[in-house]
Amino acid sequence: MSVESNWYQNAIFYQVYPRSFMDSNGDGYGDFQGLISRLDYIRGLGVDCIWLQPTYPSPLRDDGYDISDYKGVYAPFGTIQDFKRLVHEVHARGMRLISDLVINHCSSDHPWFQAARNDPSSKYFDYFVWSDNPKKYAEARIIFVDSQSSNWAYDEKVGKYYWHRFYPTQPDLNFDNPAVREEMKDVLRFWLDLGIDGFRADAVPYLYEREGTNGENLPETHAYLKELRKLMDEEYPGTILLCEANQWPRDVRAYFGDGDEFQLGFHFPLMPRVFMSIGKEDASSLVEILNATPAIPANCQWCTFLRNHDELTLEMVSEEDRQWMWNFYAPDPAMRMNLGIRRRLYPLMENDRRRVELAYSLIFTLPGSPVLYYGDEIGMGDDITQFDRNGVRTPMQWDATKNGGFSTADTTYLPAIRDGRYGYRSVNVAAQSDDPDSNLNRLKRMIEARRASEALGWGKLEWLTSGAPLPVLAYRRTTGGDTVIAVHNLTGESRPSELEAEDGVYQDLLDSGMAVTAESGKLRLTLGPRQFYWLRKVG
Ligand code: GLC
Repeated sequence: MSVESNWYQNAIFYQVYPRSFMDSNGDGYGDFQGLISRLDYIRGLGVDCIWLQPTYPSPLRDDGYDISDYKGVYAPFGTIQDFKRLVHEVHARGMRLISDLVINHCSSDHPWFQAARNDPSSKYFDYFVWSDNPKKYAEARIIFVDSQSSNWAYDEKVGKYYWHRFYPTQPDLNFDNPAVREEMKDVLRFWLDLGIDGFRADAVPYLYEREGTNGENLPETHAYLKELRKLMDEEYPGTILLCEANQWPRDVRAYFGDGDEFQLGFHFPLMPRVFMSIGKEDASSLVEILNATPAIPANCQWCTFLRNHDELTLEMVSEEDRQWMWNFYAPDPAMRMNLGIRRRLYPLMENDRRRVELAYSLIFTLPGSPVLYYGDEIGMGDDITQFDRNGVRTPMQWDATKNGGFSTADTTYLPAIRDGRYGYRSVNVAAQSDDPDSNLNRLKRMIEARRASEALGWGKLEWLTSGAPLPVLAYRRTTGGDTVIAVHNLTGESRPSELEAEDGVYQDLLDSGMAVTAESGKLRLTLGPRQFYWLRKVG
């Protein structure tokens, strides 16, 4: 298998929320040109691929995940020509770009829904899922639990209910209708023709509804997703699909198919367990979930992450762990949302860099391609006074000038974080660029170290510690030519550690550069509070 064609299996992804990234024309709104002007910065982080969040025309009732035209761009971002230029500039820097594909639902402003609603005899009526009876599909859970009491909304004009897994302004499309299935294939072609490298496919578990099921991960859904992948393989070879399925590992496993569905899938259940491991100073839940994670086809990979644009989801933990997470990480009820926590990484960790770096270290050394969320590399804060999940989507903080250098406008789409410990005057890219000990530069060095090790990217995983609790977590990653032992002390005290290891000299790939020797099959070392090493066998 060539490394080049399977680049995504060992790649660093960077998630860009374009509305808040960089405004080039002073209208208070991020745009393509602004993003282009910051591509060197992104490349400088060591990023292989940008995940660009939705840039389609939209009334923004779910921040762009409510699309009113699948083949256009929201005017404040620029034009399709600008989008093409963006793709070109990304490629010119040796990076790739995937964008969000939201097929489960569109906006209620979409002409399809408008036509359906205005004329039930129109062909678009059957693009949506209608019912006289709002008790249908009663086993499907509600996702936005804070604001929704049903997955059905009544349409006065039509005199029927329509199905929506998210907000009522996002009617679900009817995948039983072959015309919808074809429309979506055309949408894929439209964007792939513009040269993008693939998609992060939004909310894929919910495409079909069937009575007596929870309407998630249905066989029909997998069959259709495989058709999309086939289309991509045949017509746009080398393009990729990343799956957003917030599900248990065995259910996400199905989205990899036999290597003929998604190449990539987010590992949702791992994410809260990284936070639990650090908060509880015990990594046993993390080991447990990885042990319960089935093997995936050779051409696939997990995507790991710490934060994204949504609430830190607690759907994939037990009720007891959810309460624990809320109490520990979201003591103020305003920090909670749906079944999750609407905060950013640094505030979650109380701005304690040791804990943040422990978290990064775990996702950089465990199997999977890491996805970084814009702004977390510098330690941005959140603004829980903002509506919905907007508090984790505030403008990128480039420098200490007005709006953190994001925009020259007086009013921006969302206000930049100005005050306090996370304000743009102190937390910004410019201030951190020249300081070797800044959050930014330390993270860059971690990324570099991860990229330098074949084993951390491709290696098999073996646990070197076991049992519960697990205050020290160690594991070995190995490929033919490279062995790295990653060891983490999750506690706030020094810990001696003795690990099974092949005799020889091991050297830290990270800043410490420390070397230790394993003798008689044992590697002995003492870790300081919340310290970690990536020990590569060098002799
Ligand atoms: C996904 C997106 C989220 C959006 C939802 C509905 O979960 O990440 O932001 O609200 O889908 O499209």
